[in-house]
Amino acid sequence: METQKKLAIRSKGLKGQIKVPGDKSISHRSIMFGAVANGTTVIHNFLKADDCLSTMSCFRKMGVEITEEGGKVIVHGNGWDGLKEPETILDVGNSGTTARLMAGILSGRPFHSVVVGDDSIAKRPMKRVTDPLSLFGADIDGRNNGQYTPLSIRGGELSAVDYNLPVASAQVKSAMIFAALQAEGVSTIKEPVPTRNHTETMIKKFGGDITSENREIKVKGGQSFYGTEIEVPGDISSGAFFLAAGAVVPESKLVLPVLGLNPTRTGLIKVLEEMGANITVVLEEGEDYEPRGTVTIESSALKGIEIGGDIIPTLIDEIPVIAFLATQAEGRTVIKDAEELKVKETNRIDAVVSQLKILGADIESTEDGMVIHGPTSLQGGTVDSLGDHRIGMTLAIAALVCKDEVVLKNAEAVNISYPSFYSDLDSLAR
Ligand code: S3P
Repeated sequence: METQKKLAIRSKGLKGQIKVPGDKSISHRSIMFGAVANGTTVIHNFLKADDCLSTMSCFRKMGVEITEEGGKVIVHGNGWDGLKEPETILDVGNSGTTARLMAGILSGRPFHSVVVGDDSIAKRPMKRVTDPLSLFGADIDGRNNGQYTPLSIRGGELSAVDYNLPVASAQVKSAMIFAALQAEGVSTIKEPVPTRNHTETMIKKFGGDITSENREIKVKGGQSFYGTEIEVPGDISSGAFFLAAGAVVPESKLVLPVLGLNPTRTGLIKVLEEMGANITVVLEEGEDYEPRGTVTIESSALKGIEIGGDIIPTLIDEIPVIAFLATQAEGRTVIKDAEELKVKETNRIDAVVSQLKILGADIESTEDGMVIHGPTSLQGGTVDSLGDHRIGMTLAIAALVCKDEVVLKNAEAVNISYPSFYSDLDSLAR
């Protein structure tokens, strides 16, 4: 159901501690590896949001028992062969991660499956996975010559490949790693720019083997995994909205504990530092599979900066909220090398530019990003998430500093990654 929401305005003083929900990328992977591992995997702080629930539902359809007990999610894995042919379609909803990573898993399973999703998924490029998966020998196809969902996969025996990824995409890399794990031989996958490495860290956590050096990943086929205990850290991509709010709403101080701080995800922290934010990071001691820590932000004056190059994959999901930050910063901010934004849940260049403009931002799109001049005093208006969770949350944060009322259409989009977003925000803005 489409919901319209009047957003809170808060001219000063956001204070408190906010423990954001579990990391989306890690939650997806914990179900996937738990499903193909031997034995029980116990997941703490699993993200119960629509995207990860789609992953859960797909693996249940393949016969994997997944139970819940006192806030923990328990995956009862029976190894790769525990996955069975689903009797019906595998519906990934809005989740590109589910569609692409699962395609890698399904490519090596000896059965037929069909992967479908919602209207947004139907527009997202799938050739970037169907092409390399075919090189492993997978029988995989999709609408319009393998370009889009529905995907049809008849899995089978695979052989290792050497492949240079043409796009910097953790989803494509991970789909290939899942195929490589089931292939005969050692595969080499080379990335143009390092992307989030949660698949790699999780392979090690589940007792597997993978090496990564100079953007070159080597994966041996025929690996088995063993059930384990996973603590999912808070999602920095969800924390990003509060870091932005804390940075720009005057007299604010927000503390975000147990936030995931994997260096392949922390580009936003570098950007905030460079913009002049008052931010401190304290890493937790001890070795776990994923680094985590406490981030504290206090409001301060910000300045415009240039963002592009290798940092982009480390903050790709945070660019909408960075664009908002730039509207409040002194001077010009340029975001470039970010053409991947065009193929996210929405075309996020168009979505951010069109919606922030409604609020009065000085922002223009470019071929591979956007240019923002600030600071601007944002007004009010009716804006739309356009069905994209991160656009919805960006607009809710922008509304905090608006002069007049802001109404958000399709406000329910936040359920994709952060169902308690509005109540968490309200708890601080009071
Ligand atoms: C993700 C990878 C990124 C990111 C997405 C989650 C993942 O997508 O934008 O939200 O979990 O691997 P791409 O691989 O398409 O860049």
